[in-house]
Amino acid sequence: MNDAKNTVQPLDKAAKIYVAGHRGLVGSAIWRLLESDGFAGLVGRTHSELDLTDREAVFRFFDREQPEVVVLAAAKVGGIVANSTYPVDFLSINSQIQTNVLDAALNIRVPRLLFLGSSCIYPKFAEQPIREDSLLTGPLEPTNDAYAIAKIAGILHVQAVRRQYGLPWISAMPTNLYGPNDNFSATSSHVLPGLIRRYEEARRGSAAYVENWGTGTPRRELLHVDDMASACIHLLNHFDGPQQVNVGTGRDHSIAEIAQMVADATGFTGETRWDTDRPDGTPRKLLDISTLAGTGWEPSVELADGIKVTVDWYRANFASADAR
Ligand SMILES: NC(=O)c1ccc[n+]([C@@H]2O[C@H](COP(=O)([O-])OP(=O)(O)OC[C@H]3O[C@@H](n4cnc5c(N)ncnc54)[C@H](OP(=O)(O)O)[C@@H]3O)[C@@H](O)[C@H]2O)c1
Repeated sequence: MNDAKNTVQPLDKAAKIYVAGHRGLVGSAIWRLLESDGFAGLVGRTHSELDLTDREAVFRFFDREQPEVVVLAAAKVGGIVANSTYPVDFLSINSQIQTNVLDAALNIRVPRLLFLGSSCIYPKFAEQPIREDSLLTGPLEPTNDAYAIAKIAGILHVQAVRRQYGLPWISAMPTNLYGPNDNFSATSSHVLPGLIRRYEEARRGSAAYVENWGTGTPRRELLHVDDMASACIHLLNHFDGPQQVNVGTGRDHSIAEIAQMVADATGFTGETRWDTDRPDGTPRKLLDISTLAGTGWEPSVELADGIKVTVDWYRANFASADAR
């Protein structure tokens, strides 16, 4: 059940807003949008300036800065290989980051907070499109269950603060995201940046073909980070409710279709092959976005356009993006 209310006031343009993870894919998009919308009190700290696993440092930071709004977009994030190889890191580091930030924010009674999770919190066999109320109704996908459990703990932490302290904190669960500042690493990237890297390398090296894992038939929903940022700010302005809110486009595409869009955007004209001995992963993952749509928000970036912009960004930032 979703008992969303519309009792919150839109954010004050002068409010002090701390974006945790402001250099990451999501945090940087939220920062850019807040800045261009005229928010004057943005606060950010890089990982090296403030390690969010350092509880005392986090409490000192909150005591000193006294943010009025917090967006928690800092996390240890990775693709399927990183998640299944380092489950302890994904569970432990993410639990520490969110517990420290949420506890420090509660300690000074931050009035408004948005916690970001991920669609991997939902059961592996959740009915599609995945509704918010399918949370905790079945077993998780084993390859990223440690990460998912940390994120589920974060959602419950936010709900507990609402119950015990009455603060209108909220959580948002984005689908797969992409855009500028994404992680294009060969070992830890998500599907789309991984494809962009592979097709771009193939184009540059004039390779005859690109080989992708699986059959190309699984379907995935992809949301541009600028849309994600706009949904987050929209929720902070208009939404108040205990249940996490799905953030997506409500539309999915097969991996083969997405790969073709990437090939077109990079200008790769060779062949695409599919290594069907490799696993496909979940056949379909599409979020039900009716809660978000009910608040009056809708996405604005078409996937093919968003992919073109991301390829341009990758080319312009090749050296730094590749080093991540
Ligand atoms: N990307 C997606 O497709 C996607 C989809 C759904 C949900 N989300 C959610 O969105 C949130 C942000 O993800 P993202 O894709 O923006 O990840 P990202 O690009 O890797 O950014 C995460 C940010 O957190 C910072 N960070 C990590 N550990 C830290 C620590 N101990 N102390 C301080 N800062 C730390 C990172 O800094 P360093 O790089 O310097 O460590 C980075 O700036 C996550 O909660 C994730 O679950 C992402």
